[in-house]
Amino acid sequence: MGSLKGRDFLKLLDFTPEEIAQLLSVAIGLKKKKHSGEPHRYLEGKQIAIIFEKDSTRTRCSFEVAAKDLGMQVTYLGPTGSQMGKKETIADTARVLASMYDGIEYRGFEQSIVQELADYSKVPVWNGLTNEFHPTQMLADVMTIFEEFGSIKGRKLVFCGDARNNVGNSLMVVSAKLGMHFTCCAPEELFPEEELVNTCREICKETGGSITLTEDIMEGTKDADALYTDVWVSMGEPMELWESRIKLLKPYQINMEVMNNAKPDAIFLHCLPSFHNNGTTIGKEIEEKFGLKEMEVTDEVFESSHSRVFEEAENRMHTIKAVILETLR
Ligand code: CP
Ligand code: NVA
Repeated sequence: MGSLKGRDFLKLLDFTPEEIAQLLSVAIGLKKKKHSGEPHRYLEGKQIAIIFEKDSTRTRCSFEVAAKDLGMQVTYLGPTGSQMGKKETIADTARVLASMYDGIEYRGFEQSIVQELADYSKVPVWNGLTNEFHPTQMLADVMTIFEEFGSIKGRKLVFCGDARNNVGNSLMVVSAKLGMHFTCCAPEELFPEEELVNTCREICKETGGSITLTEDIMEGTKDADALYTDVWVSMGEPMELWESRIKLLKPYQINMEVMNNAKPDAIFLHCLPSFHNNGTTIGKEIEEKFGLKEMEVTDEVFESSHSRVFEEAENRMHTIKAVILETLR
């Protein structure tokens, strides 16, 4: 295995298929250690800073637990309470944090921000989600596919929903890199950017994967190994968008009819959090305003035997641990 020491983890386009496979293999090993209670404090005494300009449950907890399992200390910087972006530039923040910490995680807005942090940081910077990409999520997703089927290459992964968002973009990239057949089911105005589609299609020429964009959900989900969806309005987007997104994406909801159109042993994946019922404050607001109890996925599919969403969520921690370990050791 090659060394990834000192590398930033900003987007999967920067990594070769072999490097991605290496991170997955390390994650699988770390998961075994965690489950058997075998200590793995390989980075004892090191320190990381994790910056969250947007909310998070899984990514924050994964970075914290992973770092602590590896023997490290963690400093959390939230949307308020630090000088970053308000009185201090990204470049200055990067140089200050890099002088104290061994690695920096960033979740927030434009990809250019995490890129700038990395440009000015002498220690690795990890992307914990930007408007454009969510690369740590992808490792957990393909790990879950691998655990289910024993292989990744050649599998058909279908994303239904806002295919231009961070998760849609990143799924297309990871599929291209690992030779999967990626289908995006969405209205044309929510198809991913042409430039990224073309980049991914070029990668597919090397890896044997393919990229298909369709507005026809029954055509697109046919024979799928995995169906994937995400929220219809992402963090940082205005609440006013809900009305138009509901109109555009309601036909792309993953319900049992759609799930049954995939292979009989197909799995359902979702990065979470998910609006599969009205048990949240936003879920209730949407129900009151638009009369919709469930959105991108029905509760029936979410809770069905096809669903691997909680296995996928657990894998966030093991894969993030692999990223920290491989870029620092
Ligand atoms: N999937 C994901 O990134 O979840 P959080 O927003 O809770 O981190
Ligand atoms: N597309 C979602 C992903 C959340 C993990 C968002 O950016 O809000």
